[in-house]
Amino acid sequence: MHTIAVIGATGEVGFRLIQTLHSSYRIVAIVRNREKRDFSRYPGVEVRQVDDISDVDSLALALDGCEAIVNTGYIWFAENIHQAVMKTGAKIRHLLFTGSTGIYTRLPSHSAERKRMAEKFIQERYLCPWTIIRPTMIYGHKDDRNISRLVKALARYPFMPLIGTGSSLIQPVLIHDVVKAYETALLNSKYYNKAYNIGGGKAMSNRELVACAASSLGRQARVIPFPAALVRSGVALLSMIGLSPITREQVARFQENKNIDLSAFIKDFDYVPRNFEEGIQLLIHDLKAHGLLR
Ligand SMILES: NC(=O)c1ccc[n+]([C@@H]2O[C@H](COP(=O)([O-])OP(=O)(O)OC[C@H]3O[C@@H](n4cnc5c(N)ncnc54)[C@H](OP(=O)(O)O)[C@@H]3O)[C@@H](O)[C@H]2O)c1
Repeated sequence: MHTIAVIGATGEVGFRLIQTLHSSYRIVAIVRNREKRDFSRYPGVEVRQVDDISDVDSLALALDGCEAIVNTGYIWFAENIHQAVMKTGAKIRHLLFTGSTGIYTRLPSHSAERKRMAEKFIQERYLCPWTIIRPTMIYGHKDDRNISRLVKALARYPFMPLIGTGSSLIQPVLIHDVVKAYETALLNSKYYNKAYNIGGGKAMSNRELVACAASSLGRQARVIPFPAALVRSGVALLSMIGLSPITREQVARFQENKNIDLSAFIKDFDYVPRNFEEGIQLLIHDLKAHGLLR
């Protein structure tokens, strides 16, 4: 059985990945906070603590005996991880990274720039095989910070405010499909030294997404469009007194098309990720199972 290190094992993607991989691999879960998740349900999983992934020496020690690494934390730790791989005695044969389709934004973004630099580092400097999976917005579990909030709001309120007309495109990806992509690519030379976008099977407008989520709840959503210029001024004003619930960058990003090209993924993985219409049913099921929705 191969030994796989999962960095960010307490995260939403990381913990689900462990639930999927633990019966086929020996897992080393690299975490900074052991208490956050209950790993005891998976007896083959060994938990090793590294307080910060950028601490190269601690990470190198934690990688002892591992043959592959899946980084489900931020991709901008790529250089630290590379240094740890060089330092550890472990023979690492494959590194899988979680990127983000946020790198395609045309807006100025510090976080997108850090992710682009990390990808460049991996593609130009990594000495062992790597794969980058770049998800769009991930949803499909009760703790996702986007669609699950939308669903809970739609279940509670008869109106949904939107910035602008809501015509910009979005293509969120179901968490199960992200995990499935990792499972397929791990230690498989077909995917070595390649980067893939992963999103839902088809893009839809924000307005369509709201309507779809509402009808899945058996409701109708009354969308209230707010002119983007008005929202921008409001956010600018509230930001000055530290009271804005969203940032100016988020307002601008909402209006940007976020559809992606999935063709390389579909060709190589021989799989079309699920559409929002299907994924939203799984999310609603998860929310109901946890008593967060009636
Ligand atoms: N969620 C999305 O919509 C989305 C979309 C595109 C790309 N992504 C990328 O996908 C990845 C996984 O997403 P997610 O939703 O699973 O994120 P998440 O739940 O926030 O998990 C991130 C994990 O990384 C760990 N981590 C963060 N900084 C660390 C540090 N300095 N040292 C050690 N561990 C650290 C966190 O530890 P703690 O649990 O202790 O905080 C957590 O386990 C992220 O890299 C994110 O950028 C996410």
